[in-house]
Amino acid sequence: MTSGQWDERYRAQGLVWTADPNRFLVEAVAGLEPGSALDLACGEGRNAVWLAANGWRVTGVDFSPVGLDKARLLAAEAGVAVDWELADVTAWEAPARHDLVIVLYLHLDPPAVRAALRRAVAAVAPGGRLLVVGHAVRNLTDGYGGPPDPALLFEPEQIAGELGDLSVERAEEVLRPVEVDGAVETAIDALVLARRT
Ligand SMILES: C[S@@+](CC[C@H](N)C(=O)[O-])C[C@H]1O[C@@H](n2cnc3c(N)ncnc32)[C@H](O)[C@@H]1O
Repeated sequence: MTSGQWDERYRAQGLVWTADPNRFLVEAVAGLEPGSALDLACGEGRNAVWLAANGWRVTGVDFSPVGLDKARLLAAEAGVAVDWELADVTAWEAPARHDLVIVLYLHLDPPAVRAALRRAVAAVAPGGRLLVVGHAVRNLTDGYGGPPDPALLFEPEQIAGELGDLSVERAEEVLRPVEVDGAVETAIDALVLARRT
């Protein structure tokens, strides 16, 4: 999808992704000393705002101006400050390194994902971590929601293989309950957590 298509999607309704942080981010950050964080493809800002509310100094980057406007509003409502950057994460180079870099549900064609991950890896400070989460390939047949194109979905090992000199701590499928019309469905995500040692 182009940034214009994301703008349309974000303009069409209230929060598309809710104001709640992603459960795997909350889990991964538990016990970490807050530092600087970079949220690549931050969308409407739910994860960046949650990190900021938990003591992190956060930069959120997305190429959708409408998404970022909604993120600014969410941050204002939460009473937190986040630096928002309008940029294409397949080309944007972070001017500084961060203790935590997150890339959540960024589904692009494989060369574009590789480009974004290269930049994400480069933005991880010594001792810092990179968290990548997306819909798993198996979600297509056995899980709920997500893009219908298998080429855009993630295998944990394949994402782990793109992380250059980072040490991979976790690369696995994880299950995410999703409430749909009062029923609970299960989405299958791919999660990779890596560290610059
Ligand atoms: C499925 S949403 C996920 C948003 C957020 N990470 C979350 O979990 O709530 C994907 C986001 O990626 C953004 N995006 C897609 N391609 C991008 C690109 N090349 N550069 C920057 N943002 C991009 C879209 O604008 C959208 O906000």
